[in-house]
Amino acid sequence: MTPAIRRFPDLPALTEAALAAVARIAREAVAARGVFTIALSGGSTPMPLYAAMAGRGFGAPFASTVFFFGDERVVPVGDRRSNFGAIAPVLFTPSPIPVGNIHPMPVEVRPLELAAATYEDEVREVLGGGADVSGALPRLDLVLLGMGPDGHTASLFPDRPALGETRRLVVAMEPPTTVEPRVARLTFTLPLLNAARNVLFLVGAKGKEEPLAAALHGPPDPHVPASLVRPTDGGLEWLIGEG
Ligand code: 6PG
Repeated sequence: MTPAIRRFPDLPALTEAALAAVARIAREAVAARGVFTIALSGGSTPMPLYAAMAGRGFGAPFASTVFFFGDERVVPVGDRRSNFGAIAPVLFTPSPIPVGNIHPMPVEVRPLELAAATYEDEVREVLGGGADVSGALPRLDLVLLGMGPDGHTASLFPDRPALGETRRLVVAMEPPTTVEPRVARLTFTLPLLNAARNVLFLVGAKGKEEPLAAALHGPPDPHVPASLVRPTDGGLEWLIGEG
């Protein structure tokens, strides 16, 4: 599927467009299935979107929205590097979201392979889908993603064997060598990302020009993991901030 690409002069303009896109997808999901399921991205770019979602709403009732995380850094929730820890005070604390609708990744579980399998079970339990990827995959209504300067997305880093994963939906990842923070991660795999009904990338272009060109216009390339996100039967949109 060819991605829709929209460019914006700065982060506030990108955020407005992102909020409108989330609201459109959320309304469609609630009308069709009575619930809106979304996987959140870490990183700095989506933070103003999360604040806007909490403050202005996003097209679906809070009580009808289920939140997952597309990736997480394996650090305690109170650590400043935690995605959940960064997002919760911006999006969850100010909103009347039932706590049962929020699904943080279980970073405290060891070994990390068990943490990944536990989260995969949680995704399957909430979203349904077949018992393995030969059956129907769980489908999120929306997966938000970012892209790092090395082309990574979620916590799928360049040239890692996990990029070839076909069976597991969530995996543990060794710390990256290309970007900070250099801590282990849990991450959705490509089969789960590409099963989504909609994928929305939010990316500030500065310092990422090369991987951006490769992801948008090049062939699928494990050296630029974002280029491997191509939803099988879903929408793909890139919102790019030039400022
Ligand atoms: C993470 C992210 C990661 C992020 C990109 C872009 O946990 O680090 O989920 O994939 O989206 O690194 O981050 P920025 O928005 O800060 O550029």
